[in-house]
Amino acid sequence: MEDSLNFSIMKEHIFRYEQHKSTRKLTDMQRVVLKEAKKALKKSYSPYSGFQVAAAIELANGEIISGANYENAAYPLCLCAERVALAAAAAQFPNVKILRMAVTVKSKEHPQLKPAAPCGACRQVILETENKQRQPMEIILQAEKGDVLVIPEGRSLLPFGFDGDALAGR
Ligand code: THU
Repeated sequence: MEDSLNFSIMKEHIFRYEQHKSTRKLTDMQRVVLKEAKKALKKSYSPYSGFQVAAAIELANGEIISGANYENAAYPLCLCAERVALAAAAAQFPNVKILRMAVTVKSKEHPQLKPAAPCGACRQVILETENKQRQPMEIILQAEKGDVLVIPEGRSLLPFGFDGDALAGR
């Protein structure tokens, strides 16, 4: 008894993702969604940071919804591209599952060659969306060119994320 109470274990998380040197090995749909994200960079309203971020979402009904970051002179109110796109999808197609989301970045100051990962708040919203739809969404990241990361399950970006289980005492 004593022994089992004192038992400790070191655990680890495994984070699986694909790294591609270009878009060549992507599926047609992955490429299409990434291309839509790049087109959506022109929607960015980023006069303060000069950092454009855009996201495109493929829905299970074939629709593609995109959005970009939307800044505010009161800086904490800036909206991230990922959450703008997720909210737009939820507003237009509240009950349609999201298959994948591509995110891209571009800066007025420096060429962007490294994929930029969603911020912590966006990861929390991605986790909630996956829980709501009971299905993972794939996340595709690429900057202006170069490496493409494909993350099969958005929730893997937020190990130990807070979810409704805690509120329900589970
Ligand atoms: N931004 C996003 O749109 N998504 C992220 O995941 C990180 C940051 C935006 C917010 C702000 O407009 C600009 O990038 C600089 O932080």
